[in-house]
Parts: sequence; structure tokens; C-alpha cells
Amino acid sequence: MSAFDLSLLPRSATVDAAGRCHVAGVALDGLAERFGTPLYVYDEGELRARCREYRAAFGGPVAYAGKAFLCGAMARLVADEGLGIDVATGGELHVALHAGFPPSRITFHGNNKSDEELRRAFEAGVGRIVADSFDELDRVERLAGRSGRAPAVMIRVTPGVAVDTHEYIATGVEDSKFGFGLANGEALAAVRRVVAHHAVPFAGIHCHIGSQIDRLDAFTRAVEKMVGFVHAVESETGALVDEVNVGGGLGVRYLPEDSPPSIARYGAVVHEAFEKAIAAAGVRSRPRVGCEPGRSIAAPAGLTLYRVGTIKHIPSVRTYVAVDGGMSDNLRPVTYGARYEAFLPARAAAERPLVATIAGKHCEQGDLLVRDARLPADVANGDVLAIPVTGAYAYAMASNYNKVPRPAVVFVRDGTARVVVRRETDDDLVRLDLA
Ligand code: LLP
Repeated sequence: MSAFDLSLLPRSATVDAAGRCHVAGVALDGLAERFGTPLYVYDEGELRARCREYRAAFGGPVAYAGKAFLCGAMARLVADEGLGIDVATGGELHVALHAGFPPSRITFHGNNKSDEELRRAFEAGVGRIVADSFDELDRVERLAGRSGRAPAVMIRVTPGVAVDTHEYIATGVEDSKFGFGLANGEALAAVRRVVAHHAVPFAGIHCHIGSQIDRLDAFTRAVEKMVGFVHAVESETGALVDEVNVGGGLGVRYLPEDSPPSIARYGAVVHEAFEKAIAAAGVRSRPRVGCEPGRSIAAPAGLTLYRVGTIKHIPSVRTYVAVDGGMSDNLRPVTYGARYEAFLPARAAAERPLVATIAGKHCEQGDLLVRDARLPADVANGDVLAIPVTGAYAYAMASNYNKVPRPAVVFVRDGTARVVVRRETDDDLVRLDLA
């Protein structure tokens, strides 16, 4: 019967005397009225606050992982907050550069960077490339030979750390398409090659063990392995290691019962593990500890607004509340079985006795956004419905499935709203047709 837990919303969220929910001083149902639905809404203050928490918690280099949510406005916000950015494709690189992101603060990732992507990264003057394979090192060395210089190169290490998350997003295990294995000696061979190449500066070592990780011991184990590797690099190659990057992965609270650690606690635990391991290993390097958060910056700052359409009560089975979006604007429930909450922003403090499944509008039975959501009993066609914590990997993974135009993105701040990505139109759906 409980009311919606407002603490799942950005810190600026309030509910007025009439029960309407506001974020950054803007009424959510009013946003739906003004800009249409579905609509991605981000609290700019919350995004900025999280960037700052990361800078305070880490001290070392923090790069926002653009894959979580990227558009021009987000790239400029991240630049403005003094973070670097991690891009994983030529497309993400293009968006960052187009937004005027300083190239020297861009890190270029990817397990299968094409020649063309590498050439563009070289030409743009990106700060670093995180190398993922020997094949890529061949190509980086070739480009460096031709241009006489190269971005600094980090080696992506697969540390062999299992994490408690969905297998699709666990990336630190040995059977992974990412990185050089630590246990099989490939990571050391990769570092050896970079160190030996006069035109390729060695920037350090990197790992990313997975995403939506709630337990810090996985990070502690990764840090221990990475520091062990610093020791191996020093003793085997003589090179010092400037940076150990622990990647992204900190989990966020999607449901009231989730309890991921805070950014500050995560930073403190990683640093503590790092200092301990460095002292125990007796290494000469004094690496900086870098990180690459995506979800934990973007997810809690965002939510999605929908309009309720058909409501179907199937006697003794279930009630479906269908909304005007679905798996095209949030692929996470169908891909990872991800769970979310839902509420009605115009009646945000109401009790929610009705158990209903929020369905999308796509032609698939699996297109369900929230199974067994709780809603007020009087939920009706035309109501605005909100799903919180959709700021990461929702817009980023959106598609035009069933030729549904992608929603607009709105940033709210100090009582005002601005559209930062416009809604696609039906004309956009035929824009690429040539015949
Ligand atoms: N660095 C690297 C090299 C990564 O591959 C990722 C995420 C990150 C950083 C950022 O991780 P985060 O802090 O966001 O956990 N689509 C999935 C998540 C895929 C994560 C891919 N890599 C989801 O919706 O759960």
C-alpha cells in the first residue's frame, strides 16, 4: 500500500500541497504537457553534483563514460565540471568533439577500433587510447610511425575478478572479449610492447570489471590485482606506472530496497585498498588512481515521463497499464531483467494499492517496463506516469523499433526547462530513405 519513495528521485525533488511532484522546481506533469511524452528529464544540478562528488572522492583523473548518456549538452556539462570523457566508438568521439570537448581530455576505448576510428582519434589529438588487443597495438604503432607521435596508451587488463551482476555486463572475467589477460601474461606482453615503442607513450593500466556493482569487495580485489600488476610491470620492464584506472561500475539505487555504496564511500574504499596494496607490494611507482563512471553519474539524475493509454484488467490474471513508449526508449528491462519503480507525478504522495504491470506499446509480449508496479487505484487513461532512475543506458540504447520516434531530452534547473535533444518526428523516420 505504500506511497512512492521520493528518495529515488534527484535530491531537488519535492511534492507540493496538491501532491504534484517537482524536480529542480519544475512540475513533472507540466513538463509532459509542454514537451509531450515519452520524455527523458534530467536534473542538471544532480548531474553536476555527482560529477563533483566523483572529483572529490577520487582526486585523480575522472572520466565520465559517455556510453551511459551522451549528447552535446551532456558533453559540455561534463567538460564544464572538469572531468574527462571516455568514448567507445567513432560516433561517441564525434559527438564529444562536436560539442567542443577538449580532445586532450578524451579517452578512446573499444574492443574493435577500426583503422578509421583510430585515424580520427590521432587526428583529433585525443589524450589517450586504451588498447584492447595486440591487433590494435599493431595499428596504433603503424599510425604512430607515420605521424611521429601518438596519444598516450593505456593497457586494458582483464584482471580475472568475478562480480555479482548480470553476465552481459560482467567484464572483468578471463572469458571476456575485452582486454588483455592478466593471468596468461598477455597484459604484461602488451605493456612491454608499448614501453619499447619510442613513439607511443605508456600512460598506465586500466580495468573495468563490470557494471551495476553493489559490493565494494569486487573493486578491492581488482585494485589488489592491478597493484600486483604494477609490480610485475616495474620488475619485468623497468617502466613506472603513472595511472591505475579502475573503470566504472558503481551500482545505483533503482528500487527502495537497493543499497549501493555512495560515491564517497566507493572512492574511500578504492583508495584505501590501493594504498594498502602499494605499501605491501613495495613498488617504486606512485600511480594516480583514475576512474570512469557512467551510470552512477547519469542514472539517478534522470527519469522518463510517459502518458498512460490502455488499461486492461484480465480477471484473476493481471492488470496491464500501457504507456506510450517501452523497449524503444528503455531496453534494460527486456535485456537484463532490470527492475524499476513507477509513480504518478500528479499524485506523488498517494497510496498505491493497485498492482499492475506497466507495458510498452511495442509488438512484443516481453515489452514490459515494470512488472508488478504499485500504482494509485484511480490510475486512468491520460495520466502522466514516471519511471525514475532512467538517466543511464535508456536514451543511450534507444531505438526506432516499430518506427517509434525517439523521445526528446529535457534538462531542468532552477525552475526552468530546456530541450537539449529534440523529439524525433515522423519525417525523421524516412529521412534516410533514398528510394
Ligand atoms: N568504462 C568502460 C570501459 C566500460 O565498458 C563501461 C561500461 C564504463 C566505464 C562505465 O560503467 P558504469 O559506471 O556505467 O557501470 N547497458 C548496460 C551497461 C553496460 C556497461 C558497459 N560498459 C546496462 O544498461 O546495464
